[in-house]
Amino acid sequence: MKKALIVGASGGIGKAILKDFYQDYDVVATSTKQEKLDALKDEFPNIKTVVFDHTKREEADVIKAAVAAVGKIDCIVIASGITSDSLSIRLSDDLWDKTIEVNLSSSFRLIKNAYMQMNRAGTIIVLSSVVGKMGNIGQVAYSASKGGLEAMVRTLAREFASKGITVNAVAPGFTQTKMTQMFDQVQLSKLIPLGRMALPEEVAFAVKFLANEKASYITGHTLDINGGLWM
Ligand SMILES: NC(=O)c1ccc[n+]([C@@H]2O[C@H](COP(=O)([O-])OP(=O)(O)OC[C@H]3O[C@@H](n4cnc5c(N)ncnc54)[C@H](OP(=O)(O)O)[C@@H]3O)[C@@H](O)[C@H]2O)c1
Repeated sequence: MKKALIVGASGGIGKAILKDFYQDYDVVATSTKQEKLDALKDEFPNIKTVVFDHTKREEADVIKAAVAAVGKIDCIVIASGITSDSLSIRLSDDLWDKTIEVNLSSSFRLIKNAYMQMNRAGTIIVLSSVVGKMGNIGQVAYSASKGGLEAMVRTLAREFASKGITVNAVAPGFTQTKMTQMFDQVQLSKLIPLGRMALPEEVAFAVKFLANEKASYITGHTLDINGGLWM
C-alpha cells in the first residue's frame, strides 16, 4: 500500500482528505494536540499519528523520524494553516511572523526534511488559498503566506522533477470549516458565482485527484477550487 503524510489531518479539510486517503494509503496523520489524534485514531484505527507543531523548529526532525518509521513515502499533503485577520496597519509584527512561519517557512522545512524519504514518482500537495492570488482586506499576512507557497511550489516542482516527484497546490475558496465559522455564510455566498461555500469534501477531492498516479504529468500547478470567486 502507498504511504502518505497528512499534516493538519485534524482540521476540517485535513480530515476530509484523510477520509479519502484512508482506504488506499498507509497514513501518518499530524495535529498539534494528542487528544485530537486520539479521536482520529478512534475513527481511523489504522493510521499512525504524530504530534507536530509548525512553530517548533525542532519538530521538522519529528516529521523526519515519523516518515522514516513508516518507510519511503509516496505523498505529502500539508493541510495545516492559520489566519491572522487584522487590517494591515494594525497587524503586529509577531502575528505577521507567526503566520508566515506556520503557513510558509515551516512547510518549506518540512518538505526539505521529508524529501529524502520520498519514493520516486511521489507527490507533494500543499493547501494554498484563493486569497493568495486575489488578496483580501484584513488578511495581509495570510495572503502573503499563500502567495509565497504557490511560488515555492513552482520552484520545488522544477527542482524535484528529476526525481519524478511532482509538487502542486490546491487553492480553495471559502470552505465550511472551523477556520471560516466566524463569517456570515449568507453574505459570503453572495460574492461567490456558484452561490455557496465549498464543502471540505470538495477540496479533498482535488487533493486526491492530484495524488492519483494518472495526474503524474501535472506539476508546479495551483488548482483553484473556489466556486468562481477568482478566475
Ligand atoms: N476553510 C477555508 O475556507 C480555507 C480556504 C482556503 C484555504 N484554506 C486552507 O486549507 C488548510 C486547512 O484549513 P481548514 O479550513 O481545514 O482549517 P482548520 O479546520 O482550522 O484546520 C487547521 C489545521 O491546521 C493545523 N494547525 C494549526 N496551527 C498549526 C501549527 N502551529 N502547527 C501544525 N498544525 C497546525 C490544525 O491542527 P490542530 O487541530 O492540531 O490545531 C488543523 O489540523 C489551511 O492551509 C487553510 O489556510 C482554508
